[in-house]
Amino acid sequence: MTLIIKNGTCITAAETFTADIRVEGGKIALVGQNLDTENAEVVDASGKLVMPGGVDAHTHFDLPMPGTVSSDDHYTGHKAAAFGGTTTVMDFIPQGAGSMKQNVDAWQQKVSAKAAIDYTFHMNVTRFDDQVAADLPGLAADGIRSIKVFMAYNGRLRLSDGDIFQALRIAKKAGILTMLHAENGDVIDLLVAEALAAGNKTPEYHALTRPAWGVVEAVLRGAALSGQADGAPLYVVHMNAAGEVDQLRYAREHGLPVMGETCPQYLFFTIDHLRRPDGAKWVCSPPMRTHEDNQALWRGLTDGTLQVMGTDHCPFFFDGTKPIIYEGKPVAIPGKELGADDFTKIPNGLPGVGDRLPVLWTYGVRAGRLTPNQFVAMNATNPARIFGLYPQKGTLMPGADADLAIWDPEKRLIYGVGVAQHRTDYNLYEDWELVGMPEKVFLRGQLIVDGQRWLGKAGQGQYLARRSAGEVL
Ligand code: URP
Ligand code: ZN
Ligand code: ZN
Repeated sequence: MTLIIKNGTCITAAETFTADIRVEGGKIALVGQNLDTENAEVVDASGKLVMPGGVDAHTHFDLPMPGTVSSDDHYTGHKAAAFGGTTTVMDFIPQGAGSMKQNVDAWQQKVSAKAAIDYTFHMNVTRFDDQVAADLPGLAADGIRSIKVFMAYNGRLRLSDGDIFQALRIAKKAGILTMLHAENGDVIDLLVAEALAAGNKTPEYHALTRPAWGVVEAVLRGAALSGQADGAPLYVVHMNAAGEVDQLRYAREHGLPVMGETCPQYLFFTIDHLRRPDGAKWVCSPPMRTHEDNQALWRGLTDGTLQVMGTDHCPFFFDGTKPIIYEGKPVAIPGKELGADDFTKIPNGLPGVGDRLPVLWTYGVRAGRLTPNQFVAMNATNPARIFGLYPQKGTLMPGADADLAIWDPEKRLIYGVGVAQHRTDYNLYEDWELVGMPEKVFLRGQLIVDGQRWLGKAGQGQYLARRSAGEVL
């Protein structure tokens, strides 16, 4: 079956042009002028934009957390992503007991029947010993080319600097990218204990016990470990502070293969949001900072110091005692209320996978902070390149998967929980005015979102085994 998307304004990371796109067998077959429409289904995209489907490199679906689980699973989260124009997601496999292979197989087991868009995985390395060191290169055989290591969450997820150094060396040799959660776990633990002892338990103390200097120092430490590991590629996740951008820039100027990701929440919100009565909605790690940090992150994105916009989508209900109706059925999942009296018990994380593209189109592109091409680069092309999915994903060139978002640049709406499709009871961008939304979304040539209609289904998402290491950008 042939599909022609006609007369759209195509936007890639490099250029903007008017063209027709011919889709055959789920792939882009041709991009050109006045393509023959005989025997083809035609979608008229005149006046609309056509972009590659978004690639979100940082999501947490169905993630077990103390007393609960992130409230979007691999169906509901994928569906929400699709409504926001994203067609590929990556999430993190927790390292449990057993071998890495067992962890990967168990996670794949829980995902494959639910997946509604294409997906791949990163592996968390939160325990390091001789067996893990020996197993690590084998991840590549399962198509997993990225690991995440943590400098915080002592006694739970954190690795020592020595272990991170070893992981970097092994990963480099195996063609695996190391992703870094950069915070100072020791300082955080001391400050949290002091805050609790002093009776300071409101959400703002989540931010006050995780100071910006901790992440600044941790980014430089991570970059220095990459350098000492003979230039092992490093990707710093969820960057949130001005000083981090400075340190990453310094490391890149010194030739280190280090890259950075930020997320929309770090561009728009500050510690003041944690001071609101509903401040728990903004609790995630690392925390929101200041207006100056927001501005420095925008600069980092536009000067190329940061390459990727992820979301760190890890939603919880604000009030998980009250059900919401999801696909006609009541659902309630314990959420932020778990920490009503103690910020350390608030599940860390927030929704965002479906918000990313619509919010950044309005407040990035329309606001003049980003060009449309930068928008496509950081939201689709760069993550595809860095994580070894390019040119299958993240581009409009012939041979790529026909993952396409047809965008109505004039669609005006008031956004919020009633529009976003996340399985949770709140949205960070409640009542924000947006101009520009995805109108139709195709996954490998199949229409899965048509306006408000969901045409996708569980199980249609394909696992993307990454056969080659990605690029350092
Ligand atoms: O608060 C957050 N971000 N939860 C997810 C875990 C992480 O460190 O990315
Ligand atoms: Zn993290
Ligand atoms: Zn995360």
